Amino acid sequence: MPARILDGKKIAEKILSNAKSETAALKEKGITPKLVVVQVGSDPASTVYVEKKYRACIGTGIDSEIRQFPEYISEEMFLSEIRHMNEDPKIHGILVQLPLPKGINGQKVLESVDPAKDVDGFNPINTGKNFSGADSFKPATLVGIMRLLEETGVKLPGKNAVVIGRSNIVGKPVAVMLINAGCTVTVCNRKTKNLAAFTSLADILISAAGKPGLVKGKMVKAGAIVIDVGTTKGPGGKLVGDVDFAGVRKKASWITPVPGGVGPMTIASVIVNTLRACRGLEGA
Ligand code: GUN
Repeated sequence: MPARILDGKKIAEKILSNAKSETAALKEKGITPKLVVVQVGSDPASTVYVEKKYRACIGTGIDSEIRQFPEYISEEMFLSEIRHMNEDPKIHGILVQLPLPKGINGQKVLESVDPAKDVDGFNPINTGKNFSGADSFKPATLVGIMRLLEETGVKLPGKNAVVIGRSNIVGKPVAVMLINAGCTVTVCNRKTKNLAAFTSLADILISAAGKPGLVKGKMVKAGAIVIDVGTTKGPGGKLVGDVDFAGVRKKASWITPVPGGVGPMTIASVIVNTLRACRGLEGA
């Protein structure tokens, strides 16, 4: 039997519909949640994601603003802008779209975002809390993946999980989350030798390598859950994942499509995190 589809688009719609009700309830109490999405420069891929996050806010009733700064802004000036956002009581969430231009120290910027407004979970305070399993803001992609895994009904403790990718945004936090959930975790990357030797042991396989066609059916254990976080622009601007969908679908028990899998879940999770930030700050 072919794998069942983990329909991120449909689940995200459900999450956003709940968020809409929650936002309406907050507004009745006189609280309007607000997310500021910050972009430096005008990288077209970043612009797409920034606008998606903005539109999801507006569609949910959350106030949002895209603050775009020129690529040549000095680090000092940019950090001062973030400080102003930290101090603005009307702003509950701040999300700095990555990557940042070379002239700006990304780590310094992430450290400058107030941990209580850090809806991306990239401030080292939140990264550290995630590391030890404490409650904190978790990166949106991670929240989305967890929700997709929950949808399968599978119990995580004792499962073999293999993560392909070691980025700070996806690979590392996902690996930590799976460790904390009781999985036996292996982290591979696009240079791993004999990748199939690792992937074929995975009950849960998460690919975030950004390499189309990397994961083929013969590399996947029968009955595995396969989550494809890869998003590479293919011919005609079409988004392509890391996973050979048709081949892997024959082996897996669950699989995410690209597009329509992790992507919409990430956007919905930004909204969930923004509402969390708002409740935390307002005590609502
Ligand atoms: N760039 C690529 N993915 C992300 C993400 O999840 N958050 C931010 N802020 N930037 C990104």
